[in-house]
Amino acid sequence: MVGAVDLLYRALYRGVLARMPERAAIAIGQWGLRHVPLDRLGLFRHEDPRLAVTLGGVKLPNPLILSSMYYDTAILRRAMGMGWGAVTAKSITPGPRPGHPEPNLVRIETAEGPGLVNCNGFKNPGLEAYRQALAGLPHRVPLIVAAAGESAEDYVRVVAGLQEFGDLVEINISSPNTRLVYGWSTRPHELKDVFRAVRAATRKPVIVKISPDFRETNEEITIPAALDAGIGIVNYGNTRRVEEPRLSQHTGGLSGPALFATTLENVRRVRERFGDRLELIATGGIDSPEKARRALAAGATACGIFTGFITRGPLLARRILDALQPAGK
Ligand SMILES: Cc1cc2nc3c(=O)[nH]c(=O)nc-3n(C[C@H](O)[C@H](O)[C@H](O)COP(=O)(O)O)c2cc1C
Repeated sequence: MVGAVDLLYRALYRGVLARMPERAAIAIGQWGLRHVPLDRLGLFRHEDPRLAVTLGGVKLPNPLILSSMYYDTAILRRAMGMGWGAVTAKSITPGPRPGHPEPNLVRIETAEGPGLVNCNGFKNPGLEAYRQALAGLPHRVPLIVAAAGESAEDYVRVVAGLQEFGDLVEINISSPNTRLVYGWSTRPHELKDVFRAVRAATRKPVIVKISPDFRETNEEITIPAALDAGIGIVNYGNTRRVEEPRLSQHTGGLSGPALFATTLENVRRVRERFGDRLELIATGGIDSPEKARRALAAGATACGIFTGFITRGPLLARRILDALQPAGK
């Protein structure tokens, strides 16, 4: 059954969704996620207590995390019943942002397989509106709330405002398509104060999400500063900045399987260098059971996934969990 539905989605993706203009394909995909009660089907889940992991002391039923992209709570609610061990909400800024004009997301065929490039520009309703949206969201699995900002005060405001609605809090210092966040890695010494302020603003476990574009800075400055501030979870990482003339900003963040080789190297190196002083989420290009297995074997505590959910389909989490079971336990 899982195999048949999976093949059906892939045929639909290749034959229909991937041929439509991106905007229409996104509208259809998100309509389906909002309105079709996929979360009520047992098909998407593989429930087995032996798959559980802990992240910052929070128990996740399995090590697969839907990575940050959706802010619509109707979609987050469905995703919580679709096999994920935790679900991440989109990075929220203090005030609402319209995001960048379209086109702000395009498909890309890379040598490694299908990916996306986006310059979404943090389209989000802002802190106050999002607090109200999250208030009614039940947590079938842990929810990770996420913050983006330009200053320590921005992060503190969003973290303090959202923390009561999340089981963990992620601070995004790495999305490449606005100066808003990407600039942090060019002045990493200022992050020490951001990390301290955020750590003091919440008792929830904090995750810092870093960029694959700044390897040396990450490992020499950013990660040590996070650890010193008492932030013990690193999400490595976000999209990679690329030129993309089809986008309104002419640059964007590449996601999907082209990132995987770097993700794997980053995880292996960081685990070797920092040992068990940190917990590590491997994000970037994980779109198959084999890649998830390799990321976990390289030292990841959990795997973050977004693009694979679109290009390989909503049964990806289930297929990975089925495969992890005999190999991992
Ligand atoms: C359209 C789009 C929007 C995204 N928005 C966010 C965001 O708001 N905050 C964030 O930390 N990451 C964001 N990401 C990055 C993903 O969470 C993830 O880190 C990245 O896509 C790499 O993983 P993947 O190859 O599995 O997609 C976004 C990615 C895409 C494609």
